Amino acid sequence: MKIAVYPGSFDPVTNGHLDIIARGAKVFDEVIVVVLVNVDKKGLFKIDERVELIKRVTKDYPNVKVQSFNGLLVDFMRQKKATVILKGLRAVSDFEYEFQMALMNNKLDPEVETLFMMTNAEYSYLSSSAVKQVAKFGGCIRGLVPDEIIVDIISRIKGE
Ligand code: PNS
Repeated sequence: MKIAVYPGSFDPVTNGHLDIIARGAKVFDEVIVVVLVNVDKKGLFKIDERVELIKRVTKDYPNVKVQSFNGLLVDFMRQKKATVILKGLRAVSDFEYEFQMALMNNKLDPEVETLFMMTNAEYSYLSSSAVKQVAKFGGCIRGLVPDEIIVDIISRIKGE
């Protein structure tokens, strides 16, 4: 069985993430979405809340699992006996950051390969940070994130 692990901070999950999950689920037997801590980012949602939001929007994908992990991605991969990291690549600006992470993960565990899927052009401008900014200043986030989680994002940003 070919398992891919799709890691990220998913704070919150966007339609761009969901597109990669859906396409990955067609290519691999199983996709494990794992919410990890990015030490460089302050979170809007707690890790468990992010997991719950992703579970909600992926409930119709039988071969997608959602988990969280506190530690190195390569340690999670070993636990799951997975060797493929799936990542989405949006613009050239993503490349350097993703290249560095892919090399670091491969250095930490040479069995691990990172495969990049090009983002759907429709979502190439989309990021969780941009969604949070738009929502913070009252812009419309419909179409940027799955409809089922819009209320959660707006309420959290308003501090409810
Ligand atoms: O969505 P993001 O914030 O770009 O995801 C980054 C993430 C969470 C995948 C990355 O920070 C990560 O893998 N964190 C876990 C710690 C780790 O394994 N670091 C080594 C890779 S540099």
